[in-house]
Amino acid sequence: MILITGATGNFGSKAIQHLLNKGIAAKGIAALVRNREDTQPLSDQGIHVRMGDYADVDSMIKAFEGVEKMLLISSSDRGPVENRTKHHINAITAAKEANVKHIVYTSFVRKPDHEDSAIADFENSHVESEKFLKEIGIDYTILQNGIYQEMILAFVGEKVAETGTILFPAAEGKASWVLREELAEAAINVLTTEGHENKTYNLTNNASVDFEKIARYISEALGREVGYNSPDVEKFKATLEKAGVPDMYIGMFVMWGTAVAEGMMDAEDTTLESLLGRKPTTVKQFIDQIYR
Ligand SMILES: NC(=O)c1ccc[n+]([C@@H]2O[C@H](COP(=O)([O-])OP(=O)(O)OC[C@H]3O[C@@H](n4cnc5c(N)ncnc54)[C@H](OP(=O)(O)O)[C@@H]3O)[C@@H](O)[C@H]2O)c1
Repeated sequence: MILITGATGNFGSKAIQHLLNKGIAAKGIAALVRNREDTQPLSDQGIHVRMGDYADVDSMIKAFEGVEKMLLISSSDRGPVENRTKHHINAITAAKEANVKHIVYTSFVRKPDHEDSAIADFENSHVESEKFLKEIGIDYTILQNGIYQEMILAFVGEKVAETGTILFPAAEGKASWVLREELAEAAINVLTTEGHENKTYNLTNNASVDFEKIARYISEALGREVGYNSPDVEKFKATLEKAGVPDMYIGMFVMWGTAVAEGMMDAEDTTLESLLGRKPTTVKQFIDQIYR
């Protein structure tokens, strides 16, 4: 039995779809779900629904019964970052207790100088989780996933076609943006083929792209000029506050913008291409699909 955690989320639901596309029978797939009302669409497909919460080890020990391999999708907890670390450690502990043989864990791309970056806490949560996973004595595969191309949409804003401006403090920083769905496909290829035990993969795109280029691609797709403006962080915060953006989101935008400016996600690599057996979707292709 293969179990997918975070099965109600974007990544998890795509991962389940890829398992089914690969011909894995629904009865050989289990999904970890935390809310009872989310179970129906999965059980309608014949998938085993297992109730469990990352905050509750016992619920997961029960949920992981009979599971041989699992995809542990990192927690999306919005509270202090330590919550996420605890969630991952809980899930790994439960997997060990339930005798799971192999865990594929979705981590995040990491540069050597990450400890001095705007995403240091976020990265350290993955560092701690990876360390715990490596030491517990279960086969593991760590997927250091790049930043999702879908995040570009949040950073440029819903109204970019109307305003004609991208306001984001990423300066000239580049990132090796990847399509979430392709990361899910790669994760399933790892889970369903041999030879990935105790390996760490950097899953990013073949070419990194900055916001000048993103603005150009959006301009071409819309047939109308869109410019890029990278304000200093204090000005950016003040603009968002004036627009009524909640503090939590301002913090997140500043964190990601600064990390892109620092080059923390600029990590070109062809491992994803190898796992997919084709070139990953480029930022230009993604933008064309959204804005044309
Ligand atoms: N690489 C990137 O650029 C990037 C960007 C954003 C996030 N991420 C990470 O990648 C993960 C997957 O992305 P996504 O887009 O699929 O996120 P998502 O749509 O928010 O899905 C997160 C999943 O985790 C589940 N979950 C959260 N807290 C849980 C808990 N306490 N117990 C059990 N399940 C829990 C959610 O369940 P519910 O449906 O019950 O909430 C949901 O199924 C995120 O969780 C985050 O760690 C990466």
